[in-house]
Amino acid sequence: MSINYQDRIPNNVDLGSNRTLQRALEHWQPEFLNWWQELGPRDFQVADVYLRTATSVDAKGWATYGFVRMPDYRWGIFLADRDPERKIGFGDFYGQEVWQQIPGEYRSILRRLIVTQGDTEPASVEQQRMLGHTAPSLYDLRNLFQVNVEEGRHLWAMVYLLHAYFGRDGREEAEELLERHSGDANKPRILGTFNEPIRDWLSFFMFTYFTDRDGKFQLKSLAESSFDPLARTCSFMLTEEAHHMFVGDTGINRVVRRSLEVMKELGTEDPQAIRNAGAIDLPTVQKYLNFWFSSSLDLFGSETSSNAASYFANGLKGRPDEANYEDHMAVGQSYGLELPDGKGGLKSEEIPMRNAMNEVTRGSYVTDCELGLKRWNRLIEKVGYSYRLSLPSTRFRRNIGNWAGVSTDTSGRPITLEEFNARKGEWLPNESDQAYILSLMHGVNEPGKMAAWIAPPDRGINNNPVDYEYVKMH
Ligand SMILES: [Fe+2]
Ligand SMILES: [Fe+2]
Repeated sequence: MSINYQDRIPNNVDLGSNRTLQRALEHWQPEFLNWWQELGPRDFQVADVYLRTATSVDAKGWATYGFVRMPDYRWGIFLADRDPERKIGFGDFYGQEVWQQIPGEYRSILRRLIVTQGDTEPASVEQQRMLGHTAPSLYDLRNLFQVNVEEGRHLWAMVYLLHAYFGRDGREEAEELLERHSGDANKPRILGTFNEPIRDWLSFFMFTYFTDRDGKFQLKSLAESSFDPLARTCSFMLTEEAHHMFVGDTGINRVVRRSLEVMKELGTEDPQAIRNAGAIDLPTVQKYLNFWFSSSLDLFGSETSSNAASYFANGLKGRPDEANYEDHMAVGQSYGLELPDGKGGLKSEEIPMRNAMNEVTRGSYVTDCELGLKRWNRLIEKVGYSYRLSLPSTRFRRNIGNWAGVSTDTSGRPITLEEFNARKGEWLPNESDQAYILSLMHGVNEPGKMAAWIAPPDRGINNNPVDYEYVKMH
């Protein structure tokens, strides 16, 4: 169904035919807009930003570009088209009709899953709200705001489900999604990564590469859901999410390229010399990568999880790309884990496959993360340097799961806490790294100009040149 932009809330779910739901969402709308004004991008609310807006959910219409002031962006409710033939693709109800309503016994679990996903969306907007002032170019500033308005829309997507299928409980949860705030001591966001401050653009690119990619895998798992409205919502969100990861991937690529240019010019790999020239040395890129990758790994949950097993059994949340698996029951299979033995060593354990679903999804995520590293390393290799960026072990710096609180080096070898503390400045951004990166952060607002620490992008947005005026300040 095409998107109705006549309604106060743009939608393709025929909202007008359900007056109660429409009124409830129209009541939430001004609260959302207040939140956006207070905790969305700081300043720039009157700037004209070259944004894309969905006009339909098919390939042709989902990206229409034009200048919009962010508060006038048409946040709305868009679900991928319904497939009347769709069947449950895994678990105990495999092959049965998908659900259009939620069976009573799964109500509270499903509500929790939707709230947890929904909470991340406004959280990231809050985390990124100060970055507008230090964008390395107008092109980047525009991309930041595109990501921000779409995360706002993803919040709408989850709030629609809460209002439409969970009655009063759902409406209360929707209010609370605007009451928790990233980093708030009393009412923090639900997941750790979404309470980490993002003060600089290197972190922003790492976040959009690694943390938005977690989002991709969560959405892929939920797009398999037996609850059809959730599956359809997440399918459409995934098309928007791809751009967020593009911002991260190309952002890191451009930082690396700039670093290599300076290395070549100066004929040295010495990090201090690279910094003196105003670029970011590769070992610092590696530290920020270690931080955001390890933080994002926690978002997949514990290696062994009875919750994950029951989500799978009930068809609520599956594996990403379930169709690629041969067996959709995952019964009578096991998964091998290497776990800390509590004595500074390792032990092997076999657990039932269904209990390992978090680890299975984390594994697919890690494989996906590696693709970017291969590309960035190819750039380095081409210029003839031997330095390589790498993903740390999935055991490194974990706060959730079996490796939580177990000190390891970046290769995953268990070490003492003393050794970890003594060496963490080699692995993670230390105070002087952070101070250096922050010292580079100055807004560049002239069309086509780039900050000295980043190379220009290969091309602009929607076939416009790189020096297009993507954000018009007033
Ligand atoms: Fe999102
Ligand atoms: Fe995102």
